[in-house]
Amino acid sequence: MTQETYLTGITTTGTPHIGNYVGAIRPAVASSKDGSRKNFYFLADYHSLAKAEDPDRVHRSGLEVAATWLATGLDTGNAVFYRQSDIPEIMELTWILTSVTAKGLMNRAHSYKAQVQVNEDSGSKDPDKGIMMALYNYPILMAADILMFKSTKVPVGRDQKQHMEMTRDIAQRFNHRYGNILVIPDAEISDSTAVLSGLDGRKMSKSYDNTIPLFADEKRLRKLIMKIKTNSLEPGKPKETEGSTLYEIYRAFATDDEVKDIEKRYAEGIAWGEMKQLLFEYINEHIKPMREEYNRLLDDPAVVEQELKKGAQKAREISVPYLDEIRYAVGIRKLG
Ligand code: TRP
Repeated sequence: MTQETYLTGITTTGTPHIGNYVGAIRPAVASSKDGSRKNFYFLADYHSLAKAEDPDRVHRSGLEVAATWLATGLDTGNAVFYRQSDIPEIMELTWILTSVTAKGLMNRAHSYKAQVQVNEDSGSKDPDKGIMMALYNYPILMAADILMFKSTKVPVGRDQKQHMEMTRDIAQRFNHRYGNILVIPDAEISDSTAVLSGLDGRKMSKSYDNTIPLFADEKRLRKLIMKIKTNSLEPGKPKETEGSTLYEIYRAFATDDEVKDIEKRYAEGIAWGEMKQLLFEYINEHIKPMREEYNRLLDDPAVVEQELKKGAQKAREISVPYLDEIRYAVGIRKLG
């Protein structure tokens, strides 16, 4: 069997929260230790420009996201961990891919269409009002990320399914025109990845402003957990685990036996206040060593920078010769 190449991109637009950790970071970190496959992890910082305008925010988020991955145990010896903007070949490939990407294909992108819809709903005369080309071209840059490293498997959430189809479509068109040069990747869509609820009971998401930052300090973590919405059942009254955000978050961290124990406590009518305290203590204990490492890295960003530079070097050992091949194929060649 040929070795699979896994590639995961993380946009650097925010501060990682415990929903990101459980749903994406933790499984990816586990996968980084799997020596039977090639693993690429990168910070999609150019992608972040499509979503974030504040340079300090973009910069800060890059540090926070990188430090999070390192502090949670990403195996950078086995995996290649780099920053998109350190690999100029990705941007060059993006342009080459634009020449085989139908505009009509991009017109159909969900995120672009959603913005057009907002304009139409607001009665604007211009359906493209305020829409930047970075948003429009976003899927082409993502295709370049994936194709640059001959990825065979891209683990993504359902929201990225269309981007993966577009990547395949673009790669197939390229190969049809220029020969079998690009590797057609498969999406690995994970429905099962835990989606955690946030403070208000809706899906934990930056856009709902209901998140618990993964590395919030102890005081803040406690305060946020105390805010988690519950029903109004009195202490001593049996409680359902289903639909309980406290239970759900606990379960995402605890062992099976511990979860069983808590289920019993629910049935016995544990008070919400006690459950909150218990959850806080549990998560805090679990996160503490990683948080210490995270804070060390934030205080010493040069260490993070060095890791990324090392990763970029490894990545470019692949991207530089491969881009040469691709350039040659499209006719960008030396004259003599
Ligand atoms: N678009 C992805 C997201 O928003 C991030 C991303 C950029 C990505 N390039 C990628 C994911 C390449 C996988 C592969 O989550």
